Amino acid sequence: MAARRALPRLPRPGLGPAGWECQQSAQGDFGLLVAVIGRAERAARQSVSVVIEPVGLVLEVAADETVMGAAERRGYRWPTLCHGEGTCSVCWAEVLSGGQNLSAMRDKERNTLELLSPHLRARRQVRLACQARVHGDVAVRKPGVRPA
Ligand code: FES
Repeated sequence: MAARRALPRLPRPGLGPAGWECQQSAQGDFGLLVAVIGRAERAARQSVSVVIEPVGLVLEVAADETVMGAAERRGYRWPTLCHGEGTCSVCWAEVLSGGQNLSAMRDKERNTLELLSPHLRARRQVRLACQARVHGDVAVRKPGVRPA
């Protein structure tokens, strides 16, 4: 049978310098707890809404998530061939509103969008759903999005 190790005794607050240190530690732990709760509250506040038409899907997503990733994480299938690599262009979506709330377009996305017809790109604001990250409320149109 293994011998039980005695737990160290904690100093009691208010009983001298050791107790004072204990109170300081408790305040430090409380400060850490407040910081953690504050971070969680900020993350919750950064949740934004993504509307996907014509399926009529409304998602509350964490800021900085991709449009496609958010839908897939909630059990929806988004049309794709490259599965989010940003190379096939199949995931393109028309931005209906909130385009300013999507991440800035990078060269990779811009180059892949060149695969789409110039007529399409001229008439609509299109983004790659696998590359566009959500920073605020946005609505997009993507036929073919459906429950997996
Ligand atoms: S999934 Fe292929 S480019 Fe977005």
